[in-house]
Amino acid sequence: MPKPDILMPAPMSPEVISALDDRFVLHRLWEQPDTGEFMNSVGPHIQGLAVSTLAGRIDDVLFDRLPALEIVANFGVGYDNVDARAAAALGIMVTNTPGVLDEEVADLTLGLLLATIRCIPQVERYVREGLWPSGAFPLSPTLRGRRIGILGLGAIGKAVARRLDGFGVEIAYHGRSRQADVDYDYHDTPVALATACDVLIAIVPGGAATRHLVDADVLTDLGPDGVIINVARGSVVDEAALIAALRSGTILAAGLDVFEDEPQVPEVLLTLPNVVVLPHIGSASIKTRAAMGQLVVDNLVAWFDGGKPITPVPETI
Ligand code: DGY
Repeated sequence: MPKPDILMPAPMSPEVISALDDRFVLHRLWEQPDTGEFMNSVGPHIQGLAVSTLAGRIDDVLFDRLPALEIVANFGVGYDNVDARAAAALGIMVTNTPGVLDEEVADLTLGLLLATIRCIPQVERYVREGLWPSGAFPLSPTLRGRRIGILGLGAIGKAVARRLDGFGVEIAYHGRSRQADVDYDYHDTPVALATACDVLIAIVPGGAATRHLVDADVLTDLGPDGVIINVARGSVVDEAALIAALRSGTILAAGLDVFEDEPQVPEVLLTLPNVVVLPHIGSASIKTRAAMGQLVVDNLVAWFDGGKPITPVPETI
């Protein structure tokens, strides 16, 4: 049996590349001197794609050029970079990497929450700039006693809630529906959640359904003591409304791991003192990124060996 042809549009880790090289004919698009010519000659033979958000949008434009494509294996639990409905309509399987990153993203979320509320990066700069002896650093707000709203109580949201249980806070949530296995307060809209809380943690999937779920109204309802933490997707928060709210004091502070136009971060955000910015590192530990890469490989192998991937996304089951 000839080995299936797999296309990798943008680089993934050396371990993933080597594992795919062993098992498939792996084509590295980013190494091709003429990608147009390469797609014309090799595109019709490609049966699998290994992609991350670095590969750009995976949709009909690409599917049209890959008529033999059977599966898109996405590196990431979020797959808003892939048009899964268009794939499903063409009978193309899509897989993601759920489960292996929940605890890592939850850890990062707590780190970002504490960094934002206790102003850790800001005071760390005081030390580096030699200002400690002057005693001039500002005092921070407090996490304890706050009402925390989790927007999206999926596996990661629940892992965050478990951690928060030890912090002396109240927890509430909004999601598509009330969940039977938790007793946190449920609110049926983001506005209702924001009204009941003074910290909002966004952990919903990206995509059209959640675009600008956190808008000017939600920010206003969060109030002047309000803190927004976004570890979901930049698109979930209306960035222009957020910047206005941070500038005007409509809310207190924001901790952002994701941005609307990554890796671009609006210049003005970087000038605001009440923002902590991270470069989308929710899952970015050595161990977790390795597990995600392995799941990409395992999904492709399972598909081509037996036609049943390990973690298909719901749209393509
Ligand atoms: C994901 O897997 O979707 C996270 O955002 C990490 O990249």
